[in-house]
Amino acid sequence: MTTPRPLIAGNWKMNGLEVALDEARAVAAAVDAQPPAARVALCPPATLVHRMAQALVGGGVAVGGQDCRAEASGAFTGDVSAEMLADCGATLVILGHSERRAGYDETDALVAAKTLAALRAGLEPIICVGETLAEREAARTLEIVTGQVRGSLPPELAGKAFAVAYEPVWAIGTGLTPTLAQIEEVHVAIRAVLVERFGAEGAGVPILYGGSVKPSNAAEILAVKDVGGALVGGASLKAEDFLGIIARA
Ligand code: PGA
Repeated sequence: MTTPRPLIAGNWKMNGLEVALDEARAVAAAVDAQPPAARVALCPPATLVHRMAQALVGGGVAVGGQDCRAEASGAFTGDVSAEMLADCGATLVILGHSERRAGYDETDALVAAKTLAALRAGLEPIICVGETLAEREAARTLEIVTGQVRGSLPPELAGKAFAVAYEPVWAIGTGLTPTLAQIEEVHVAIRAVLVERFGAEGAGVPILYGGSVKPSNAAEILAVKDVGGALVGGASLKAEDFLGIIARA
């Protein structure tokens, strides 16, 4: 089984006005000048998806959304569909991020429905899972994470390009990271579920690690068994930091 290229994806969250496209252009210029080992993607807020996709068109940096509605269209004020993201030039979408699971009560079933929407629109979903600190302290990490993987990944993903992102909630934006052994334990557990669900294909699905990834810790995290890339929040906002992570993949 050949190992797929790692994926380094930046999640800008609710950050970025038009001027921030300069950072995206700087990332793309460096990636295009010296193509890295990893695939690279940036996921700006919905308001910038179209402009970023236009700015980066034809280059080596893909553009993604951060969420989508499950329905293709309709009376859902304020929401954005997978088809709309694709129409703007996105090729990926982050789904089930813990900030959405916690802030908008997104269940595994809803994340699975959104995943089907992404597939319908031809987007590559990056499906996020991760335990809270209370769950880790209660020794429930593997149960929670494997449960989220089982519940959030519909069988229709078979044969499609997708990634899973393991993001411990307590490591997001905190500067804290699990030990390498803790990361490996969870990634190996996720891999086992992927293989159980998707057979040999599951062995090749990239499992990204996310949560306080920065240039100084990227190399050791990316070298952990079954870590197939990174989902990067804060450190993806500045081209220099993001490129420092990309260079270590
Ligand atoms: P962080 O965020 O890198 O700022 O910790 C990661 C994420 O939420 O995807």
